Amino acid sequence: MKFTYVALYSAALSLAQASPVKRAEITDADILNYALTLEHLEAAFYEEGLKNYTQQDFVNAGMHDPFYANLKSVGTDEKAHEDFLTQALTAAGAKPVERCTYSFPSTDAKSFLALASVLEGVGVSAYLGAAASIMDATYLTAAGSILTVEARHSAYLRAALGEAPAAQPFDNPLTLNEVYTVASPFIVSCPETNGALPVKSFPSLSVSSSSGAVMAGQKVTLSVGDGFNDTDTSDIYAAFITVTGPNWAPATANGDGTFTVTIPPGVAGQSYLVLTRGNRQATDDNILAGPAIIEVN
Ligand SMILES: *[C@@H]1O[C@H](CO)[C@@H](O)[C@H](O)[C@H]1NC(C)=O
Ligand SMILES: *[C@@H]1O[C@H](CO)[C@@H](O)[C@H](O)[C@H]1NC(C)=O
Repeated sequence: MKFTYVALYSAALSLAQASPVKRAEITDADILNYALTLEHLEAAFYEEGLKNYTQQDFVNAGMHDPFYANLKSVGTDEKAHEDFLTQALTAAGAKPVERCTYSFPSTDAKSFLALASVLEGVGVSAYLGAAASIMDATYLTAAGSILTVEARHSAYLRAALGEAPAAQPFDNPLTLNEVYTVASPFIVSCPETNGALPVKSFPSLSVSSSSGAVMAGQKVTLSVGDGFNDTDTSDIYAAFITVTGPNWAPATANGDGTFTVTIPPGVAGQSYLVLTRGNRQATDDNILAGPAIIEVN
């Protein structure tokens, strides 16, 4: 860890001395602050959950030793990521964002673990999706070293919950805006001193017909949140995000603000779908809502 800090600091110093490298208006400092925004959320989530629920609560939820110790170390890792990114940004002469206040929907040990597993999966997809935008190789390695740990957290929690630890051979990358759309419902408010990140949310998208996992070939009903423009519901598709591009399915408007989608073959594990206009691409320009998160068996 010490070595990585030193390497990161020297990269940060050379970055600060040179003019900041920019691509598409997003700097490495933006990406690190985006990652820090997620790590703040995760660290706060585990702190709160481990305060709320006792070791016995987790045992009662079916999680036996050494689960609790491992869960605590997941929380400690998130705190270490938070500290690491804060220090890296400070060393680069950038202003690290601070923690916000959060609201999590979990109400017991079981729902806490279900959300923990989803958040770890989103973390993996967030680092994976941001990787291509990181300019500095040292930052890329640092982000990669966080990504691999998030992936192990995800696999551990998935297995503990009776899900396939690695449900498919490739993980799904999410863009900054997609991740922000998923994370922002948990964020109540942030300090005004946190500068605005170059991210926006799409209207939310949630599965309303069923709870728990679904299978390929099964129909799901999706509800769109505020901001969705329903003037024209023709030519709308569900894009299931994968590393090689979307796996498409038509989205049929039900006339009541919901859409029906049949899960296409080849979708497995923690999956993300966005509603798009047309089925040629799924980009910031034509995403209408989402992602929704669906666990597919
Ligand atoms: C902790 O408990 C409070 C009060 O019941 C609840 O509002 C909050 O969502 C819980 N947090 C987590 C992470 O489960
Ligand atoms: C909603 O969609 C219609 C048809 O595509 C478009 O003409 C209109 O400007 C959109 N409204 C908003 C608020 O985006």
